[in-house]
Amino acid sequence: MRTGVWLVGARGSVATTSIVGGLALRAGLAGPTGCVTELPELRGPALPSFADLVFGGHDLATTPLYKRAEALADAGVVPGRLVAALPDELTAVEQELRPAPVGATQADRAAAVVRDLTSFRERHGLDRVVVVNVSATEPTPRPHPGHADPDALRAALTGPDEVLPPSSLYAYAALLAGCPYVDFTPSTGLRLPALAALAEQQRLPYAGHDGKTGETLVKSVLAPMFAMRNLAVRSWSGMNLLGGGDGATLADPAANAAKVQSKQRVLGETLGYVPQGNTRIEYVEELGDFKTAWDLITFAGFLGTGMRMEFTWHGCDSALAAPLVLDLARLTAAAHAAGHVGPLAELGFFFKDPLGAPTHSLAEQWARLTDFTRQLHAGRDGGHDHAG
Ligand SMILES: NC(=O)c1ccc[n+]([C@@H]2O[C@H](COP(=O)([O-])OP(=O)(O)OC[C@H]3O[C@@H](n4cnc5c(N)ncnc54)[C@H](O)[C@@H]3O)[C@@H](O)[C@H]2O)c1
Repeated sequence: MRTGVWLVGARGSVATTSIVGGLALRAGLAGPTGCVTELPELRGPALPSFADLVFGGHDLATTPLYKRAEALADAGVVPGRLVAALPDELTAVEQELRPAPVGATQADRAAAVVRDLTSFRERHGLDRVVVVNVSATEPTPRPHPGHADPDALRAALTGPDEVLPPSSLYAYAALLAGCPYVDFTPSTGLRLPALAALAEQQRLPYAGHDGKTGETLVKSVLAPMFAMRNLAVRSWSGMNLLGGGDGATLADPAANAAKVQSKQRVLGETLGYVPQGNTRIEYVEELGDFKTAWDLITFAGFLGTGMRMEFTWHGCDSALAAPLVLDLARLTAAAHAAGHVGPLAELGFFFKDPLGAPTHSLAEQWARLTDFTRQLHAGRDGGHDHAG
């Protein structure tokens, strides 16, 4: 199953690490540590192989991919020997990267993206192209009447207004081009009624939001533990320090607010109440792609006895995120091939703010994911409609 992986934000840290990793796996130069789809519970014939994946994408930036990969190697995010071993492969991907679209109206820009996606699919004889948003986090957009339904949206996009934020404009174009869409970021993406309706009309699946790679991953394991032991969490405060492009973007208060909201949701929804405390994110340039999170949890046990727990997480963000981007591309391609339409709640395991999934518990999400994948492999599930 030849599958295009079209990365929006293709020259960013997560995208470049995904590309280097995908090429290294294809060449047999690296093992699949961190790729969930290579676990025995998920591996199987319904998923495209690493050799089946063809990369392309859009970015505002123009830094050559090879230079971005070398910078990540210098920073210790990817092994330098892999970047040095893949010059031809990285050049081939470079040829599939396109500048962010230009045009007088958003309708013109969407049409340019559709042309890029369609010609990518045709040039490589791909069965399908999964569009994955890994571009910079955006602030939440202002409401617009065009967000309500596909006809209102189509009309509004031909006017002078900035109706959609970039993540949603790419999602709109992906749907028009017949491509499933995955949002690895907390941006709006496909989360607008007009776009959800369009996905149904186009019979396409989509998944999101915001990859769960660090502090929130740990929270989604610990919070159910407190709930199951009937311990009362009184406060949960987290401090995240990070550098890199993502950290620089999150220095902007509006983008920061979108991310913090996404990180806090797991507590309220798992515990059934919101304990005191906040999650904070601070940009420390020196840390680059390596993130430190400190969490302090205070809780009460039997007869109100107070206790506390602290944890520290030191993660390399892009190395944690990239294998999940490959997993999501493979799983979403398989879901599309099986005829799934609408939000893929079964992929909630991968996200901080899972679309259509009622549970934030990692264990429950894992059970749903393995069940779903088993059905995909068994081919028993041909064409089950998730919409509505
Ligand atoms: N690394 C993780 O663990 C993790 C986890 C969850 C979510 N994310 C999200 O993934 C995204 C990428 O993170 P990163 O560390 O790679 O950031 P980054 O800043 O290194 O890369 C973002 C890229 O997006 C490009 N971009 C910005 N606006 C664009 C537009 N309109 N069109 C096309 N390209 C555009 C930028 O030029 C840049 O190359 C962020 O939104 C981040 O919040 C990352």
